[in-house]
Amino acid sequence: MNLAIIGYGRMGKEIEKIAQERNHNVTLKVDDSNAKSIGEDDFKNVDVAIEFTIPESAVSNINMCFAHNIPVVSGTTGWLDQFNLVLDKCKNENQTFFYASNYSIGVNLFFKLNNDLAKMMNKFPNYNVNVEETHHTKKLDSPSGTAITITEGIIENNTHKNKWVEEKESSSDSIGIKSFRVGNVPGNHKVIYESEFDKIEIEHDAKSRKGFALGAVLAAEFIANKKGYFTMNDLLKF
Ligand SMILES: NC(=O)c1ccc[n+]([C@@H]2O[C@H](COP(=O)([O-])OP(=O)(O)OC[C@H]3O[C@@H](n4cnc5c(N)ncnc54)[C@H](O)[C@@H]3O)[C@@H](O)[C@H]2O)c1
Repeated sequence: MNLAIIGYGRMGKEIEKIAQERNHNVTLKVDDSNAKSIGEDDFKNVDVAIEFTIPESAVSNINMCFAHNIPVVSGTTGWLDQFNLVLDKCKNENQTFFYASNYSIGVNLFFKLNNDLAKMMNKFPNYNVNVEETHHTKKLDSPSGTAITITEGIIENNTHKNKWVEEKESSSDSIGIKSFRVGNVPGNHKVIYESEFDKIEIEHDAKSRKGFALGAVLAAEFIANKKGYFTMNDLLKF
């Protein structure tokens, strides 16, 4: 497959390595240095674009791919206020869009475990639940998109919780998300249930960015000949 990499930063460079290992060609690289000069000709032989940039440019990059009828995999976080606009555009213009707040297969197994645990803990309201996330100091958004997905999973499966709050301790109807920014940590997430008597904790710790990059390339392979909106649930068939 011929791939476009939009955003040639930490993730873009990992994606390039994994794509080459899987025998794909990276025929276009877009970064903030050349973004304004990209046109029709640059997309000529591109099969799928993979977009990992910054919250401010995600929507215009995805729209640019739609305008050239290129299926797009996006992993940029921190722009979810505009997510439904992109989904509407994808549907109305018969385009192809794959989005995950986290492309790691391990994290998606963790999402499933978190949902199942939330269902189980629903019967035990004496346990309070908090979410903690730790990332490198260059991360722009907070809380992480992954922490928000984890928290939404708890809210969907637990009738006692209906919202999340940043930094604070949870209350009877809210879940607290605490964010830490430390060194070069690729991503650590914990879900902590605590009662007066004990604590139950599940944790996912990414060892590097390679797991995210592999998931993004697998997503690109998955959507190459499809139309519509897809997520990791479609890829992993949960
Ligand atoms: N979904 C996931 O699995 C996952 C995993 C890791 C990171 N992320 C997210 O991916 C994004 C990128 O992370 P990163 O660590 O690679 O960041 P980074 O800062 O290393 O790279 C971002 C790149 O985007 C480029 N860029 C900025 N504006 C652009 C534009 N208009 N067009 C094209 N490129 C542009 C920058 O030049 C930079 O190279 C962040 O939002 C991060 O939270 C998601």
